[in-house]
Amino acid sequence: MTSTLLRGRTLSFVRWPQTIDDHSAWRYEEDGGLLISDGRIVAAGAYADVEKQAGETAKKIDHRPHLLLPGFIDAHVHFPQMQVIASYGAELLDWLNTYTFPEETKFANAQHGRRIARLFLDETVRHGTTTVAAYCSVHKASAEAFFAESHARDMLNVAGKVMMDRNAPEGVLDTPQSGYDDTKALIAEWHGKGRQRYAITPRFAITSSPEQMEMAGALCREHPDLHMQTHLSENHAEIAFTGELYPWSRDYTDVYEHYGLLGKKSLFGHCIHLSEREADALSDSGSVAVFCPTSNLFLGSGLFDYQRFRRRDKPLRIGAATDVGGGTNYSMLRTMDEGYKVIALNGEKLNPFQSFWQITRGNAEALSVADKIGTLEEGTDADIVVLDARATPAMRLRMETVETLAQELFLLQTLGDDRAVREVYVAGRAAKSDMIAG
Ligand code: GUN
Ligand code: ZN
Repeated sequence: MTSTLLRGRTLSFVRWPQTIDDHSAWRYEEDGGLLISDGRIVAAGAYADVEKQAGETAKKIDHRPHLLLPGFIDAHVHFPQMQVIASYGAELLDWLNTYTFPEETKFANAQHGRRIARLFLDETVRHGTTTVAAYCSVHKASAEAFFAESHARDMLNVAGKVMMDRNAPEGVLDTPQSGYDDTKALIAEWHGKGRQRYAITPRFAITSSPEQMEMAGALCREHPDLHMQTHLSENHAEIAFTGELYPWSRDYTDVYEHYGLLGKKSLFGHCIHLSEREADALSDSGSVAVFCPTSNLFLGSGLFDYQRFRRRDKPLRIGAATDVGGGTNYSMLRTMDEGYKVIALNGEKLNPFQSFWQITRGNAEALSVADKIGTLEEGTDADIVVLDARATPAMRLRMETVETLAQELFLLQTLGDDRAVREVYVAGRAAKSDMIAG
């Protein structure tokens, strides 16, 4: 087994960085080394030390002066929405009815699903993202296409077919029984196969009948180790309609609570307009609120109060995500640039170390997979992104005045996109250059 020895400026987080000077929250090596064998990082540290552990045959790749970070993680994205992104002029419910549901009907065709799954993971990797929590369409074949493509690339991805049985066109509806049966079959076939992980995925309360919500709860009880993902409190009209559909509920979160869908593996997209009671319920259950800034801005949904959610007596676990195709970019750098602005509109700041913590270790913790990905620690999977802060003329010029790592990270976030991603390793294999080479 030949191993690979990467050299570059390595940065990996140990915990949430309280301030820009909270140096013990991260590990940074100006001349760092990562020894990779069998898809894992087997040694990490100063290059001189790591090199001693590498055998004669190790393939050496010198990425200096670029940064080596853990591959980015996107905690909420819709792979069937690649041809929905950039659809003009609607708020959430109209956007779903006008653009999204009609587009997702096309995934009844398995061949279409396979094509989009391939192009989606190409795009994801090109942007430096090595793990996503993905929604597939309602069609079982779309999830099969996604997992097959993900498995072939040896990516650690979390995904599930959406369960939806009402308030949408016939072509994107299942039934409580078929949604349950298809989910069971997909779990049996894909969960735990290589790096694949299944997420039970009731789309949101509006598109599931009470019978289907019961089925989703049953699936969570039967598979307590699995993720559950859905949408919560994104838009005022959505919240009002949910109240009409579940008249007994105290609030939107109560609907999911009632069916047993809250928990440590539960990912709730958006969570913009939560009451204190709802935030307490999410916190008490260890559920995760997923911040989707480009989507929340694009659909005019609202401003996620990131810092207040972190600081409250009962803090929320938070993930960050593109939410393509409501979101407008595949890049987690672009996502955190918009996230920074949303947080600024709430009168707060997110420092660059906090941003990069969020899209690496933070999202790994949100997905409960920090033992596998999200850091450069020894024994974890070798999912790595190589970042070039001089990727464009404007970045190069701005870098002339950059003096600190914090400034460089902030420049990458503010001006960077897929062009700043020089290479991506998935389970130790160079994936971006392979793709370009065809
Ligand atoms: N709520 C239910 N489905 C969706 C979706 O596809 N995108 C977004 N942004 N919100 C949703
Ligand atoms: Zn979404």
